[in-house]
Amino acid sequence: MTRSPTRRRFLQAAGGITLLAVGGAIWRAHDREVFVTPSGAPYDPWTLWNSSEYKNTPVALVAAGILASNPHNTQPWIFRLSDKQIDILADTSRNLGSFDPYLREMHIGLGCAIENMVLAAPANGYGTEVLFEEGSLLEIEKSGLVHAATIRLVDMQDRADPLYDAIPLRHTNRYAYDRERGFPEDLLRRLTAASGNEYVALSLFTEGEAFDALGRAIIEATEEIVADHAMIEDSHAWFRDGPDEMEKERSGLALDTAGLSPALLAAAKFLPALPAEQSHAAWLGQTRDSHVPSAALLGVISVRNRYDRPQSLAAGRLWQRIHLEASAASIAMHPLNQPVETIDRERELGKEAKSEARLTAITKDASWQPTFVFRAGYPTRSALASARRSVETVTEKT
Ligand SMILES: Cc1cc2nc3c(=O)[nH]c(=O)nc-3n(C[C@H](O)[C@H](O)[C@H](O)COP(=O)(O)O)c2cc1C
Repeated sequence: MTRSPTRRRFLQAAGGITLLAVGGAIWRAHDREVFVTPSGAPYDPWTLWNSSEYKNTPVALVAAGILASNPHNTQPWIFRLSDKQIDILADTSRNLGSFDPYLREMHIGLGCAIENMVLAAPANGYGTEVLFEEGSLLEIEKSGLVHAATIRLVDMQDRADPLYDAIPLRHTNRYAYDRERGFPEDLLRRLTAASGNEYVALSLFTEGEAFDALGRAIIEATEEIVADHAMIEDSHAWFRDGPDEMEKERSGLALDTAGLSPALLAAAKFLPALPAEQSHAAWLGQTRDSHVPSAALLGVISVRNRYDRPQSLAAGRLWQRIHLEASAASIAMHPLNQPVETIDRERELGKEAKSEARLTAITKDASWQPTFVFRAGYPTRSALASARRSVETVTEKT
């Protein structure tokens, strides 16, 4: 059978288009690093953190501090250094808007950085004294750099804290956990023993009524956030669209750490970024179908006053410590702070405090105010490191 000239031309054109499409797809896959583990300058701080260049200087403490947990990877910090002290400043321009209207989560993140810095001090020949800025988050100036705390440094020879080595191992793990394996008893005991003072408390749940109700509260709060246009737009502003944007910003959230399966991750990286509504709808699906049902443990950090500045910093220090303890024991953790984010949002909008009541019904003690909720368990996959701005970018020398 001979092909007609028209049919031949059609087949040639179709072949050309297919080649172009394949070429384009390969180019896009390459450009978006679809099959590549993220690397390069934004991830260098995870290996440079204990570099000999910084050893026994205050910069070494900052290099550990910037690896801390922090809300939406906003890295809302500036460190002002002198020989004798480090001032930690909240960079209020890096705020989450309606997601964190009182900069409460920002201060928890600063507390996380402070904990890493204190842990890095003995390994670098320093003893520390930490002084928190007093006052209320409800009255804080929300512009420019706001002083949050000072770490005073004194020369001291001390043994490094065992948690120091866990600093670069700690990553937020958003994959499903293996609930069947439960939670290691010894770690549960250590976390319970290490936690708390008269201002900060840790509650841990592995089963029962409170565990189930907390799981439901997390899902309900996520539904409420997803229905709140301003919240998801403010959250979306910190989603980075591909490696070029991450290279430039070195902060914010990337698909690589979103807890997607390898196939879904490749597809999501290949395709154009989803708009805020769709990406947050996917997040709700993950929360409902994976994060909550696969959790072996749910935890709550509470304080006496959620809007007290020192208490927010102290809550962050505790969270960082717990997460490091877990990382050292190869246990995954993941903040699921939606039920507290909706408390702030209702307050900001002057709405009835339903979210507050929802959590008090679970904790059954209104004298403690939840400020941070998380899950934990044996991981089914290991989590990757997220990007960080460099030490130089976030340091000022006086
Ligand atoms: C106060 C606070 C709230 C957070 N809330 C959430 C959350 O609700 N969901 C989530 O997936 N991660 C949450 N995180 C984790 C951060 O997104 C994460 O620490 C940041 O992206 C840096 O990544 P890394 O922890 O892997 O270094 C929170 C962290 C902090 C300190």
